[in-house]
Amino acid sequence: MAGVAVARPLLLLLLLAVVGLPAAWALGVNWGTMASHQLPPSTVVRMLQDNGIRKVKLFDADAEPLGALAGSGIEVMVAIPNNMLDMMTDYDTAREWVHKNVSAYNFDGGVNIRYVAVGNEPFLSSLNGTFLNVTFPALRNIQQALDEAGVGDTVKATVPLNADVYESPKDNSVPSAGRFRPEIAGLMTEIVQFLNQSGAPFTVNIYPYLSLYGNDDFPLDFAFFDGASSPVVDGSIQYTNVFDANFDTLVSALAKAGVGGLPVVVGEVGWPTDGEKHATAAYAQRFYAGLFRKLAGNAGTPLRPNQYMEIYLFSLIDEDVKSIAPGNFERHWGVMRYDGQPKYAMDPTGQGRNTALTGARGVDYLPRAWCVLNTNSPPENMSRLGDNVGYACTNADCTSLSYGSTCNGMDAAGNASYAFNTYFQMQDQGEEACGFDGLAVRTRQDPSTGTCNFTIQLENTSAAAGRRRGPAALTLTMALVLVAAMVTAL
Ligand SMILES: *[C@@H]1O[C@H](CO)[C@@H](O)[C@H](O)[C@H]1NC(C)=O
Ligand SMILES: *[C@@H]1O[C@H](CO)[C@@H](O)[C@H](O)[C@H]1NC(C)=O
Ligand SMILES: *[C@@H]1O[C@H](CO)[C@@H](O)[C@H](O)[C@H]1NC(C)=O
Ligand SMILES: *[C@@H]1O[C@H](CO)[C@@H](O)[C@H](O)[C@H]1NC(C)=O
Ligand SMILES: *[C@@H]1O[C@H](CO)[C@@H](O)[C@H](O)[C@H]1NC(C)=O
Ligand SMILES: *[C@@H]1O[C@H](CO)[C@@H](O)[C@H](O)[C@H]1NC(C)=O
Ligand SMILES: *[C@@H]1O[C@H](CO)[C@@H](O)[C@H](O)[C@H]1NC(C)=O
Ligand SMILES: *[C@@H]1O[C@H](CO)[C@@H](O)[C@H](O)[C@H]1NC(C)=O
Repeated sequence: MAGVAVARPLLLLLLLAVVGLPAAWALGVNWGTMASHQLPPSTVVRMLQDNGIRKVKLFDADAEPLGALAGSGIEVMVAIPNNMLDMMTDYDTAREWVHKNVSAYNFDGGVNIRYVAVGNEPFLSSLNGTFLNVTFPALRNIQQALDEAGVGDTVKATVPLNADVYESPKDNSVPSAGRFRPEIAGLMTEIVQFLNQSGAPFTVNIYPYLSLYGNDDFPLDFAFFDGASSPVVDGSIQYTNVFDANFDTLVSALAKAGVGGLPVVVGEVGWPTDGEKHATAAYAQRFYAGLFRKLAGNAGTPLRPNQYMEIYLFSLIDEDVKSIAPGNFERHWGVMRYDGQPKYAMDPTGQGRNTALTGARGVDYLPRAWCVLNTNSPPENMSRLGDNVGYACTNADCTSLSYGSTCNGMDAAGNASYAFNTYFQMQDQGEEACGFDGLAVRTRQDPSTGTCNFTIQLENTSAAAGRRRGPAALTLTMALVLVAAMVTAL
């Protein structure tokens, strides 16, 4: 009897391990690098491995992250930024790009590149058609170059597109009426038929958060996989969440373009945690819990039931120098804070356990020092407060002060201190960075409040690496990659 009592929990644990891990393994993340202070790429890769994350999507083909990914086995999507698409319409340039940025890493112990992203949402409506003429020629050239280099069977070129390339008509807005946006329908049809021929997936970015953002009539539950009380009825199908409805709108559009079975990769999906009233850690936690519950069951969507879904979370880490044109939330998409530490409970196995991702290890911070408003400044200096706060916020990140954010609701002095500190940290705590016409003062006392963090930035790795290793030092992996690149070039 005693034996059974011991064995049962053990068996359960084993089952959990078997059932639980594959979901985490299949999970992908977007690794964006628009932060003023970056974690060392090797630290990020170890964090991916610690969390069993097996897929990563990049926004360029920078040698540093790729060097760190070498030998990890992690599947990688490298990318060609939009501003390089024009160049890729020239075949020789495309071939050169593939040599340098794909073939060079294709060796034993190299980088497991699976996809090349040709552009990033190049047909986004707000880009006014700038990339309409160049994207398809670039896609064709890159796939041809991959084929010519002998890697085309395993490496596929795809175009990550925003979900705004398709829609359902206003008078019949159900997923089954999905179609590509009329003004790009011809081009989209050519592209998806090409993807179908080359065996590449369609890559789409789906943002339930943006359905809610700026639309107070949008049913909240429908954004969170909990919309059973307000379903969208489409014939015999009831949609209870906007993610499925959006995905199936695409499936319908693909069918109308003659490729109803084309595989779909979700290139970006996620929820931000600051900068707007619906961008909170609590909502993000709820969103991911719903998403992972759905993924774990391999439920698929009503039009593609019982299917494994390849998904890349957006994103891994906060990026404090991203453009805030879309909104103040834009710098807070990370499932990890700027320092690689988890923001909220998350169970990627979809079992809703109260677990968290494993944070980055061995993170180097600047000293515990802050810069705040000197409340003893003379009145004549105080008159320059507005200008100085404006300067700090223009050159650093003040998005957490905005309405609905974690640091909103402080008094004017709190605002000024927050602005001064964020600038001071951005400038690596430099001596001159805490001046502000004599309005600021350094302190060793943490000014953070219950909800508002006055953060300490990461140590500047370029500066720190120089101190530790000397500027000419190379990691072994980087050296191997460089040697391989030279060999390939010959
Ligand atoms: C490889 O990719 C990097 C980063 O995207 C880019 O700067 C570089 O020009 C590419 N190399 C070639 C040969 O195109
Ligand atoms: C697109 O057009 C709008 C309106 O003319 C303009 O404000 C915006 O800057 C343009 N965007 C780009 C990327 O050209
Ligand atoms: C795309 O090509 C068409 C036809 O050649 C041309 O009229 C249009 O100006 C081009 N658009 C851009 C953004 O280059
Ligand atoms: C392209 O689509 C057709 C029709 O859906 C399908 O039969 C074919 O297998 C697809 N080709 C590839 C390479 O997936
Ligand atoms: C603090 O700054 C925020 C964001 O700029 C602003 O909305 C708020 O009114 C400011 N508070 C005070 C007391 O000045
Ligand atoms: C007030 O501002 C002036 C001009 O920047 C500066 O020289 C002076 O030191 C400031 N006063 C104090 C008390 O910081
Ligand atoms: C503030 O930072 C601490 C760690 O230093 C973290 O535990 C906490 O969640 C953060 N709070 C917010 C609102 O970001
Ligand atoms: C980091 O240090 C390097 C080298 O000292 C410097 O060029 C760079 O501007 C610094 N970056 C930041 C964000 O302070």
